[in-house]
Amino acid sequence: MIGIRICLAAWLGLWLFLLAPATRAQPAPNLLPLPAEMHWGKDRLSLSKPLKLQLDASPDPAVRPAVRRLLTRLQGPAEPAAGPVLQIRYGRVGQPEKFDEERYSLRVTPMGVSIDAPTSLGVLRALATLEQLPVTEKKQRYLPEVDIQDQPRFAWRGLLIDAARHFMPVAVIKRNIDGMAAVKLNVLHWHLTDDQGFRVESQVFPRLHTVGSTDGLFYTQAQVREVLAYAAARGIRVVPEFDMPSHTTSWIVAYPRLKSNDSTYAPYTSWRTTNVAIDPTRETTYTFLDSLFTEMTALFPDPYFHAGGDENDGRNWRRTPRIVAYMQANKMVKADGKTVDKHQLQTYFNRRVLALLQKRGKTMIGWDEILGPDLPRETVIQSWRGKKGLVDAAKLGHPVLLSNGYYLDLNNTAASSYLTDPLPPDSPLTPVERKLVLGGEAAMWAEFADSVVLDSRIWPRAAAVAERLWSPQASTQSVADLYRRLPVISAELETLGLRHRIVPELLLKQLAGSSNVAPLRTLAEVLEPVKEYKRHFQGFTYTTATPLNRLVDAAPAESEVARRFGILVDSVVAGGATAAGRTAASQRQVAALRAQLLRWQANDVVLQPQFLLNPTLREYGPLSTNLAAVARLLLERLMQLQGGQVPSAAWLAAAKATLDAAQAPAGQAELAVVKAARRLAIPSVSAP
Ligand code: ACM
Repeated sequence: MIGIRICLAAWLGLWLFLLAPATRAQPAPNLLPLPAEMHWGKDRLSLSKPLKLQLDASPDPAVRPAVRRLLTRLQGPAEPAAGPVLQIRYGRVGQPEKFDEERYSLRVTPMGVSIDAPTSLGVLRALATLEQLPVTEKKQRYLPEVDIQDQPRFAWRGLLIDAARHFMPVAVIKRNIDGMAAVKLNVLHWHLTDDQGFRVESQVFPRLHTVGSTDGLFYTQAQVREVLAYAAARGIRVVPEFDMPSHTTSWIVAYPRLKSNDSTYAPYTSWRTTNVAIDPTRETTYTFLDSLFTEMTALFPDPYFHAGGDENDGRNWRRTPRIVAYMQANKMVKADGKTVDKHQLQTYFNRRVLALLQKRGKTMIGWDEILGPDLPRETVIQSWRGKKGLVDAAKLGHPVLLSNGYYLDLNNTAASSYLTDPLPPDSPLTPVERKLVLGGEAAMWAEFADSVVLDSRIWPRAAAVAERLWSPQASTQSVADLYRRLPVISAELETLGLRHRIVPELLLKQLAGSSNVAPLRTLAEVLEPVKEYKRHFQGFTYTTATPLNRLVDAAPAESEVARRFGILVDSVVAGGATAAGRTAASQRQVAALRAQLLRWQANDVVLQPQFLLNPTLREYGPLSTNLAAVARLLLERLMQLQGGQVPSAAWLAAAKATLDAAQAPAGQAELAVVKAARRLAIPSVSAP
């Protein structure tokens, strides 16, 4: 009897197994940004047969080319006669400049793919998601079965690109727009003017673009229109920034009548803030701006216009008797009734600029310095100096954007941007004030980024900001999961044409010359440029003409090798290395750590002769020596741990000295492994 029962059960079980949909491991989503909601099925749609597009009427001419671009990347250029259907339905043409809906649903079943959205913008966002869905298994590509309902958390998800400090050619801007579209960023903030250059052709004031910079590089108006069309076809708005009243040396060089004093100005070729400002007291300044805005607001159709307003300490105004007299006559003085107050004069300037822009239907944006009680509320404030600027502005009734925490040029980690939230759970804003938080912008200032290295300074870290601004707060708290997905998005960005991965490698090859590049790469991948604004203050004088082709420029903004090393160190510190806690897994970790340390130690021996031969590399010699010294120290420490030995006071003192020395930068770069090394070497230092 029992035997029959077992047979029956096995027989039933076999049938249930055969009848059930194939149960496959659910894919860990590689999507970035994570959608608001997703439900994974158990089935899949094979991509061995190309998808056939079904898009009936498409009132938005951007949609069909966007689908074709995607399908070409997915399956090649030919339109199949038959195959599973990719069905796209949407209600109306989306208008990005009106913050139109970007919501969409995307379903994959074994029968095909369907995208539904109220607007064509939603379709574009769905296509970005679809591009990230394919999974390859046993050389077969397929789409996992899934039902996605998605919409953004914030309407304004920007990337600032500074094309003034270093000019960024059209092709560079376009490929970064492709990167933005891939991670659903939707506003390109184009920083077009600064002390070092005025980068857009002005037909009204042609000296601005021809005389203001030493390199004479600028966008023609036709090129601007080309970029705007390219962005619009990807559902991305372009907000231009004309930074004033300070950051305007290029304007003043071209049109000295704008200046506040009697100095003579030449094109500015340094990076430090000048505090040079145009004269807000003369009517001729406003007639100039009136004509310039007529031209530029027509060229840039977006309803928002960024007028800058940052970093003006007022020295040009305070030191000019005529302007001081103007401030006194107009009671622009501090509470003592005597001392002139440059902030009041700048607010006056802002009000005049605002009126000129409003006359043309534009909403003005300014950096947080322009905030003050007299600033009209409709001005949008972009907060860069701290989170307080955002809170203060929203409390005064201004719409706000967050950029503090999202400055890519400061070389902070993706995690630090990711954990920066425009509306954190402890935000002091009321529900009404919260509605004023439009979103935020990653910012890529270009003192230390030219058109060659720009991509590698933006990507993939900007994707962390993109997810913070798009995805629900609750489902995006795992830094580990962000780092799991960043390399995946990084590879996708590369297929889209971004040069963030290839350029550092090319720079290294150039630096290695006829030598083997591998040892140089081993060093470069554990270096990072010094953080925050320190690169300005390392005793190396940069100008606009300094080539950005040294080892520091090939070093990643955030070292992935160092990050992984830190994780390995922490797992070993957590008990893996002691004799008592020795499991197979922990032994593997110790072995991996030892192998890494031996590689670093040996690397210096190969690299030092290269440094001797190559004067452009020599400044990095100390970093290689220090890496080897740290490696030697940690190898000793591993021996101690495994032998259950407590380090002596003398050993600890020597270790501290080695680590302190290893923290010193060279060539404006620093070793990214020292913090983790300290956690392993010095028993009392705990994990971050
Ligand atoms: C800024 O970084 N000066 C806006």
